[in-house]
Amino acid sequence: HTYIIIMAGGVGTRFWPFSRSNYPKQFHDVLGTGRTLLQQTADRFDGICPPENIYIVTSSKYKDICQEQLPQLADDQILCEPVARNTAPCIAYACYKIAQRDPQANIVVAPADHIILKEESFRDTIRTALATTHGNDVLVTLGIKPSRPDTGYGYIQYLTNTNGDVRKVKTFTEKPHLELAKQFLESGEFVWNAGIFVWNVQAIKKAFARFMPETAEIFAEGEAVYYTSDETSFINKAYSLCKSVSIDNGIMEKADNVHVVLSDFGWSDLGTWKSLYEVSDKSDDLNVVDGHILLYDTRNCIIKTPKDRLVVVNGLDGYIVAEYDNVLMICRKEEEQKVKEFVADAKERG
Ligand code: GDD
Ligand code: MG
Repeated sequence: HTYIIIMAGGVGTRFWPFSRSNYPKQFHDVLGTGRTLLQQTADRFDGICPPENIYIVTSSKYKDICQEQLPQLADDQILCEPVARNTAPCIAYACYKIAQRDPQANIVVAPADHIILKEESFRDTIRTALATTHGNDVLVTLGIKPSRPDTGYGYIQYLTNTNGDVRKVKTFTEKPHLELAKQFLESGEFVWNAGIFVWNVQAIKKAFARFMPETAEIFAEGEAVYYTSDETSFINKAYSLCKSVSIDNGIMEKADNVHVVLSDFGWSDLGTWKSLYEVSDKSDDLNVVDGHILLYDTRNCIIKTPKDRLVVVNGLDGYIVAEYDNVLMICRKEEEQKVKEFVADAKERG
């Protein structure tokens, strides 16, 4: 009874201009492997569950892209949101819908925009997590050894007086400020939340009922219409009632039955250009570039431009050069946090 929910509704602003609101990063072949991030996410569960148990939750405007990229999925496996309300409503919708089909479902929730280098090790970890959630009222998340005080992640403090890969969680802190992140890192008692969750459907329903009762009520009401022709209009109304809350803030920080599987599967959240730079293969001059780019006296750069034109770069050090559709961005790698600002300003210009 294993099911997968792939969350694919984010816009991925920090990856602009590659990630655009009409074509976010999860739909791109970011690594140049021939498969997009969404396709890679689905591929990864080969052998964990059959394709008919995979659900995608996305914005209705990305439905066609999802169908095109994952033709093995039936129409009703792509759940469409009328508006983005962050990950808690997204997860609630899919879990309540699956609960109706299978009250004994074990569910893996996965973001569509991560890379995982060690796939076999990932599947082993998922199997360990599934063994933990089977018949148990626990919420399981996967933890990654942190390497820097990154403020973009959730930090999980786990009990160190037990052994094994599965640990009881003491505290969960979503996106701490820098000082706190530094303390967490130094203490050695914390791992990053990979944002991949595993639970049985009864456990997550119970958690919604306790910590987000309004959301629970909204999606429980749908049990009369899931899998019927009234589902879409019900969901449109339901989302207009939902607050925008992440699962991390809404449930994981508050629950006392969280467990973490200490994991190591070459995980990376491709949140920003720098993170892509870091995981990519580099040339001798530490550049990340495709073959159609001619470089002279250039170091530490990541350059992503359309393959159908020749790009020549001379004398750049530490830059992001990214072109997609009608936008070209050239930005110092160390200042990539400004990308959000660029997006806002660009929007103003239409
Ligand atoms: N369907 C849908 N609807 N998907 C969404 C929505 C939404 O409204 N909002 C976000 N998503 C998808 C994104 O596309 C992404 O795949 C996933 O949900 C997680 O959302 P992010 O917005 O990328 O979250 P984050 O990276 O800031 O934080 C989460 O992931 C970190 C690890 O990458 C948290 O779980 C952190 O605790 C965690 O460390
Ligand atoms: Mg993310």
